Amino acid sequence: MTTYNDKVHLVDHPLVQHKLTLMRRKDASTNTFRTLLNEVSMLMAYEVTRDMPMQDIEIETPLETMTSRVIDGKKLVFVSILRAGNGILEGMLSVVPGARVGHVGLYRDPKTLTAVEYYFKMPQDMEARDVVIVDPMLATGNSAIAAVERLKELNPKSIKFVCLLTCPEGIAAMQNAHPDVHIYTAAIDRQLNSHGYILPGLGDAGDRIFGTK
Ligand code: URA
Repeated sequence: MTTYNDKVHLVDHPLVQHKLTLMRRKDASTNTFRTLLNEVSMLMAYEVTRDMPMQDIEIETPLETMTSRVIDGKKLVFVSILRAGNGILEGMLSVVPGARVGHVGLYRDPKTLTAVEYYFKMPQDMEARDVVIVDPMLATGNSAIAAVERLKELNPKSIKFVCLLTCPEGIAAMQNAHPDVHIYTAAIDRQLNSHGYILPGLGDAGDRIFGTK
């Protein structure tokens, strides 16, 4: 993993980069795209959970008693920005099955590109939890910024943001609004187009995950 700046972490592991290249290809089927996203998300989960707090517990091996370390997955909340975030969520949960899950429903107004909230459901006791927000594309940053804003009202211990792709505009917007939030991404692409899509990108992530186009 390399750092773009001290809050932006580029997950440049060869396996992640290889799978991302296959996903970008326009001829990748829905099934291929979804399977690869699931695999990439598992690999990204390793990086985003690298500094998770651990605790010592006493266990019995077949030979003797020992003190060993475990993570408390229940303190972690994966927050999916609907609907494309669900594509990342699945892979992350297979690595941290004890994590709780929240959902934020935001859609992009096609004219203004601003985020409009239609759903928000979080676990209880958010003050005790570390939040990892997932959304494949950090493009204009509008949905991500709105999601972080809403979550900050619940005062969680920390907030990280995981995406597959972003661009300089998305990073700048997010870091302007929320300089405290660490961003994990598999690629930083060239630019946004006038419709708020990332170039070269991979198209509409939701459509590619769910086969809706
Ligand atoms: N959302 C997408 O699905 N794709 C983009 O390129 C930008 C935002």
